[in-house]
Amino acid sequence: MTQDIERIEAVMTAAPVVPVLIVDDPKKAVPMAQALVKGGLPAIEITLRTNNALECIKAVADEVEGAMVGAGTVLDHKQYEAAVNAGSTFVVSPGATDALINAAADFQHVPLLPGSSSASETMRLLEAGFQRQKFFPAVPAGGAPFLKGLASPLAAVKFCPTGGVSLSNAQEFLKLPNVLCVGGSWIADAAAIEAEDWAGIEARAKDAAAL
Ligand code: 3PG
Repeated sequence: MTQDIERIEAVMTAAPVVPVLIVDDPKKAVPMAQALVKGGLPAIEITLRTNNALECIKAVADEVEGAMVGAGTVLDHKQYEAAVNAGSTFVVSPGATDALINAAADFQHVPLLPGSSSASETMRLLEAGFQRQKFFPAVPAGGAPFLKGLASPLAAVKFCPTGGVSLSNAQEFLKLPNVLCVGGSWIADAAAIEAEDWAGIEARAKDAAAL
């Protein structure tokens, strides 16, 4: 199996940041996604960490023009299939298993961005056909200096570092030759979504889009 680089790069290069979202109410997910798109962040990752995450993905896919919605925290084949059926355009996982790699092969039109956090994990995923990977959890696993260390020996792999990334350290990652984008929850955290702070989310999206 080979990852569809064109499809996953459309997601990774749409903007410098992919917002990572924990949202449970489809009625909030829609205005949230509209604020993100308006702020300049069209590729968004809704994590499967709430009861209604799949409904949120479906609502955004159906109703938010210009959004590219993906499913995050996808851990197994069943969740991958459900994410595809909900209308996800991409799938993100914190790590990788054989079952997940098999799911990615079954649903190649919805590409997987699998997580890795060591040279060996990166190499195994490269061997399985994944040249685009999520570096997770980015800051605890070694941050920008670690990724810089992989840039020359594993030059074929480009990353989306996620986990501990914020407006203040995103640039350290984005300037690396093996980074296409970063992911993070700071643009629309659970409190901002709960408070329906769409203006604040849009403002933070604008700052992130300008990185
Ligand atoms: C997560 O684990 O929720 C994502 O990787 C985002 O991490 P962050 O909250 O540190 O941005």
